[in-house]
Amino acid sequence: MNHELIIVLDFGAQYRQLIARRVREAGVYCEVMPHDTPVSVLQDKNPKGVILTGGPSVVYDPDAPIADKALFHLGIPVLGICYGAQLMGYVLGGSVARATHREYGKKLLTVNPQNPLFEQVNPNTVCWMSHTYYLNSLPAGFSITASTDTCPAAAIANVEAKLYGVQFHPEVVHTEEGTQMLHNFLYNICGCKGDWVMQDFAQETILHLQQKIGNKKVLCGLSGGVDSSVAAMLVHQAVGQQLTCIFVDHGLLRKNEGDEVEETFASFNINLIRVNAGKRFLSKLQGITEPEQKRKIIGEEFIRVFEEEARKIGAVDFLVQGTIYPDVIESGTKNAATIKTHHNVGGLPDVIEFSEILEPLRDLFKDEVRKVGAAIGLPPEMVNRQPFPGPGLAIRVIGEVTFEKLEVLREADHIYRSEIAHAGLQDHIWQYFAVYTGLRSVGVMGDERTYDTTIALRAVTSIDGMTADWARIPHEVLERIANRIINEVPHVNRVVYDITSKPPGTIEWE
Ligand code: XMP
Repeated sequence: MNHELIIVLDFGAQYRQLIARRVREAGVYCEVMPHDTPVSVLQDKNPKGVILTGGPSVVYDPDAPIADKALFHLGIPVLGICYGAQLMGYVLGGSVARATHREYGKKLLTVNPQNPLFEQVNPNTVCWMSHTYYLNSLPAGFSITASTDTCPAAAIANVEAKLYGVQFHPEVVHTEEGTQMLHNFLYNICGCKGDWVMQDFAQETILHLQQKIGNKKVLCGLSGGVDSSVAAMLVHQAVGQQLTCIFVDHGLLRKNEGDEVEETFASFNINLIRVNAGKRFLSKLQGITEPEQKRKIIGEEFIRVFEEEARKIGAVDFLVQGTIYPDVIESGTKNAATIKTHHNVGGLPDVIEFSEILEPLRDLFKDEVRKVGAAIGLPPEMVNRQPFPGPGLAIRVIGEVTFEKLEVLREADHIYRSEIAHAGLQDHIWQYFAVYTGLRSVGVMGDERTYDTTIALRAVTSIDGMTADWARIPHEVLERIANRIINEVPHVNRVVYDITSKPPGTIEWE
């Protein structure tokens, strides 16, 4: 399968996969490669174009990642973004200077619409900037093609050499016409036709998994969530009965969830083992209040349960996990800070008794995973399920997790979910769930004083979970939910609604 290829060279950008995703969205296959990939290797891959990412370095740093000058003389179009643009300018003989102020956030951008990168872009448009250094002198053959009031060289180009640089970030949604700019680069400058769809990803992944797995045995940790379900179905379509799925019911699931997952997968003719390990997880979590510690304990226990099951099956070589890109990036990388250790990434123990972990969805965002799921024939009710974190309700019970608190939370959450469905809002909200806050407050019920638990309701809209806005649920729906929870769930006397976006909050409370 020979697709048109765009290579994203990674110079340490937090959002390198976001660039890759935008390219895929535009219908072009894309690979992210390390910045020091030799030019000859790049050339052998015959890319239609190369994108240089941003990164935290300054070109003058002694250990700054530098591009090989030869890259710019191959005749292959190059688009440098942020640090990538500075690097291109610097390597070709320009220079970079430190601005008096860091430029961060939305900026008005004036572009030259004659430039191929800005075709069909408004002469005055909004872009997203995040930089301290900027290009203060351009290499020979380059001209300025866009500017802001504080950044004269906001975009540069040498049209003849097909070299383009932008100081801003066309890949983020805040750059209002970023999609058009990337489209221009791919289609007008690189000459792509757009020959790639999610169906290809699914087929190629299945083929790759077949080659990799051969006739060996595979285990998959199935949570019933979208990611692990899609990962499992890809592997199932690749190697059929060589796959055994282990569904660990850690006792931290929502009401009725364990039985629902079992029923769904029973219909797919997949080997499925359900392990009821609720007591085991709860005893490990006893006395633990720190969120990162909870995540690590649950992650480790998951793996231990897998290992035990694997030993019973015997000679299992591979473990499949439904890790997706936001899990990877938010767990911290060499260049990106740790926000939370997603249990299926940083929470892995050091000693794992599998020779390899397969993560077929590692480079994808949630909405892309849903498209893959639909492409391989998973039913809509499964691919459109709202995300549910691996550590489950343990990170929605603030403080120590106990069975009693979980039961209160499960009941409140169940009412919340059924009322959202009743109001027909389920497809408009990315995630909605209840949180056991651990806060007690005074109330009055039936002339009696109460001193009881506060439940928080969280609901967010989002495209990929990386950023989110709080959902504007109609007040009358919130009112009904709050009334029902207080009346029907013992020990709850107050319900609050969380109106924090991400950032600065995160979606989950822990
Ligand atoms: P945060 O709370 O980091 O969540 O804004 C972003 C998205 O990721 C989900 N999430 C997880 N998913 N394992 C997962 O598989 C985890 O450990 C985990 N922690 C958070 C969260 O529900 C939201 O959709």
